[in-house]
Order: sequence, then structure tokens, then C-alpha cells
Amino acid sequence: MDSTDTSFEQRLKVNAGRTEALLTRLLADTSLHDEITRPDRLLSAMRHGVLNGGKRLRPFLVMESATLLGGDAEAALRVGAALECVHCYSLVHDDLPAMDDDDLRRGQPTVHIAFDYATAILAGDSLLTYAFDIIAAPETELPADRKMALVLALSRAAGIGGMAGGQALDLAAEKEAPDEKGITTLQAMKTGALIRFACEAGAIIAGASAEDRKRLRIFGEKIGLAFQLADDLLDLTADAATMGKATGKDAARGKGTLVALHGQEWAETTLARLVKEAADLLSGYGDKAGILTETARFIANRKS
Ligand code: IPE
Ligand code: IPE
Ligand code: MG
Ligand code: MG
Ligand code: MG
Repeated sequence: MDSTDTSFEQRLKVNAGRTEALLTRLLADTSLHDEITRPDRLLSAMRHGVLNGGKRLRPFLVMESATLLGGDAEAALRVGAALECVHCYSLVHDDLPAMDDDDLRRGQPTVHIAFDYATAILAGDSLLTYAFDIIAAPETELPADRKMALVLALSRAAGIGGMAGGQALDLAAEKEAPDEKGITTLQAMKTGALIRFACEAGAIIAGASAEDRKRLRIFGEKIGLAFQLADDLLDLTADAATMGKATGKDAARGKGTLVALHGQEWAETTLARLVKEAADLLSGYGDKAGILTETARFIANRKS
């Protein structure tokens, strides 16, 4: 670990390491009870799509929101890994030729380049399904009603009214430019919904009150919008080597982004406003919310 790292960055790295270790175990060769076999090539493609050095921000948000409200850390780690499987599946499919057609992800060839299109589709399918397996499995030691609430919330965040629906709107926007409200809706869905789930999941794991759950959910909505705004800004300003993925493509494809609509300066001001609103939401928790507040700042100011 670099000696100049702040405690926030160290915490992020430690959690990423623990998430990566758990994902490695979950993607082992050995079949689970009631699985018949794990086909080698498909498993390799899943590993390629998952174990390749993402920031692991969503698992971090699950962990830190659970910690804020007194939730079990082991359960939060597993729910974070499940969410990361959904996120990685969304990236594998997002990169396919029928969608964004990208060759580079996290500094490596995308799954359909390293393997083939059909394997990339199936790796995504398997990762999505596995997420629900990980939450439902007995190793996730939570009361059944909390698991059920997690499955429901993740389904709503990932499906037609969340990430997948948002991806459909994102592709439609390449053909017909949406207005500001349309862009905000598509971003809240394609990116915001999984980030909102990450924050709300901590409250569910902790068995928190309806008010706490709602507060974390709104916090997640704010930082979710900030996350995609920063991604769109970085697409314009950063290079592929830093990002580990192609940049400068949104404008080329005519993606509906707020950066395209309002420009860089507006985006930077809006990011600062979203971070402030997110931090204000958690002010009632005092110092305990420091890490989540810093995460909001990190999301807005990230360089990769
Ligand atoms: C990239 O997400 C895709 C978007 C939703 C914008 P991340 O920036 O979290 O990607 P990784 O997981 O760190 O690679
Ligand atoms: C990705 O948005 C959103 C999902 C994968 C759900 P982008 O298409 O902007 O993400 P990158 O820039 O390829 O990571
Ligand atoms: Mg996309
Ligand atoms: Mg993309
Ligand atoms: Mg992007």
C-alpha cells in the first residue's frame, strides 16, 4: 500500500481486496450443490469479466452503509459480491458489438474479444443469476425476510425499471436525442439504480428503520447521478490508459449525456452540488457518516 494513501483510499483498497478474494472463491472450479458442472470456458469468461481489477465501489457502498447502521459485515461482503456480479454482467453486455462495441475494459480485452460473443452473452447471464444465488445461499447469514427484501430490491434495480431498462433508453437515445429530463431518467436507471441499491442494501442488511432505509436510498440516488455524470465527464477529458477503457466515444456515438447538453463547467458545478446534497442527507449521523460522505466526494472527483 502506498504510504501517501489516505485512510479512505486504504479502506477502499482493503474492501476491494476482500471482495476480490470472495469473488475468486465464488468462481472456483468446484460445482455447488445442485449445479451439474461448471463448463471451463464459460467459467473462465466469467472470471475474466469479474476478476480484473474494478474499483469495487458498489461493494464498498454496501459495506459502509451496513457499517453505518450496525449491519453484519460478513453478510454485507457477500451482498456486495453479489452486486458486483450484476455490475460486471452489465459491463460485459454493455461492451458487446450490439451495444457500445468496446474492445477494452479495465485495461484488458473485453470478454467477447478474449472469448467470443456467445460466451460473453452467457457469462453475463450466468453472473446475473449467480448474484441471486449468492444472496439466497445459506452462507449469507441473514434472516429470511431481509434476504427476500434484498432479492426484491436488487431485482427492481437490475431489471426493466432499472439498469436493463436504462440501457435500452441509452441505446434509443443514440437515435433520438432525449431532453434533460429524459437523460436524467435514463442515467438514474442505467447506473443510478445499482448504486442506489448498494446504499439501500446496507440498511436492509442492518434491519434498519424505514426512515434510515429511505435516507440511504436517496443518498444512493444522488451519488448514482454523480457517478454517471463523472463517467460522462471522464469520457470527454480522460485518456484510455488511465480509464482502462476507450474514451471520447460518447460524443462520437451521439450518446445522450448531460455533459453533451450543458458542457463541462456545468457538469463540474452540478457534481459539487450533488456531493453537498448527499453529505447533508447524512449529517444527522455525525462522524459515523464520514466515510460515506468521502465516498460521495470520491465518486464526483475520481480520475478513473
Ligand atoms: C463503469 O462503472 C460503468 C458505469 C456504470 C459508468 P465503474 O467505473 O464502477 O467500473 P469499474 O467497476 O471500476 O471497472
Ligand atoms: C454503462 O454506462 C452503464 C452500464 C453498464 C449499466 P457506459 O456505457 O457509459 O459505461 P462505460 O463508459 O462503458 O463504462
Ligand atoms: Mg453504455
Ligand atoms: Mg459503455
Ligand atoms: Mg461511459
